[in-house]
Amino acid sequence: MAAVGTWAFSEPAVDRLRHLISAGRHATDAVEEALAGRYQVENDPETGRHIVGRGGFPNSGGVLECDAAIMEGRAGRFGAVAALRGVGSAVRVARRVMDRSPHSLLVGEGAVAFAKEQGFTVEPNDSLLTAHSTQAYQEYVEKQQRVSGHDTLGLIALDNMGNITVGVSTSGAPFKSPGRVGDSPLPGCGLYAENMVGAAAATGDGDKIMCYCPSFHVVQLMKQGSSPSDACQAVLDDIIRRTSPDSCFEIGLIALNMKGEVGAASSVEFPYTCWNQDKASVEKRTNRPHSILSDGGGNRK
Ligand code: GLY
Repeated sequence: MAAVGTWAFSEPAVDRLRHLISAGRHATDAVEEALAGRYQVENDPETGRHIVGRGGFPNSGGVLECDAAIMEGRAGRFGAVAALRGVGSAVRVARRVMDRSPHSLLVGEGAVAFAKEQGFTVEPNDSLLTAHSTQAYQEYVEKQQRVSGHDTLGLIALDNMGNITVGVSTSGAPFKSPGRVGDSPLPGCGLYAENMVGAAAATGDGDKIMCYCPSFHVVQLMKQGSSPSDACQAVLDDIIRRTSPDSCFEIGLIALNMKGEVGAASSVEFPYTCWNQDKASVEKRTNRPHSILSDGGGNRK
């Protein structure tokens, strides 16, 4: 059993994963619950400042549009929503897409209609924003002031039956164009999982990340025998090789294999949290940006 999450703010979610999978829950139920359960990050207005779910930053028209996805290691088990309005826990809708829709990815009005059909309450936009996100939007409108901060809660869980599931959720780039979709709900880009191998998730600049399918690439390298850490670093190095060390966009990668080993790599300082069955509590780690292209491969965690 093991779990890992993007950014320091994943700590309570990874702790929730620890409890749930230790109690015998399936990895998929645990990931959905840790992302979207009561008081959990996706649906907590206070954690919207991390650019996730309820309380996140709206698009350039002032409307919150969320992207989320969930993928199991079992072949073909994937569901996602993009540019979903009116729902604070988008990953729950993504799970229903995986379980109950003949489709894999629903966007915009179609995603809202599906959420309604499935019994979700579609809320007015105002009730999904907070004083903080409303004020940030006003400052954007009046002064073109952007917000800094990290995006995308990505969680991976390996349960005691050997199931591995990855889930991601984000309100996307603050003040993005309406309808913009990032990497998070795209399989292979924001997330990927394969039974008997492992899973990976990405965070950062989704407009760029989606051009490289990094989560798929990480899992393929693990399939060929790389450790999660080496796989994440090799994928980052490949991206840097194709951009340049000085102009690489913001990206953080996490990965988990079936042995419960965790890895990460990033182009920016990247805190993440993890746990495995040998540990009593969730561990906080920080990946510092480095590349074999610039430091000869040293400084690996
Ligand atoms: N990585 C999340 C996004 O760019 O939407």
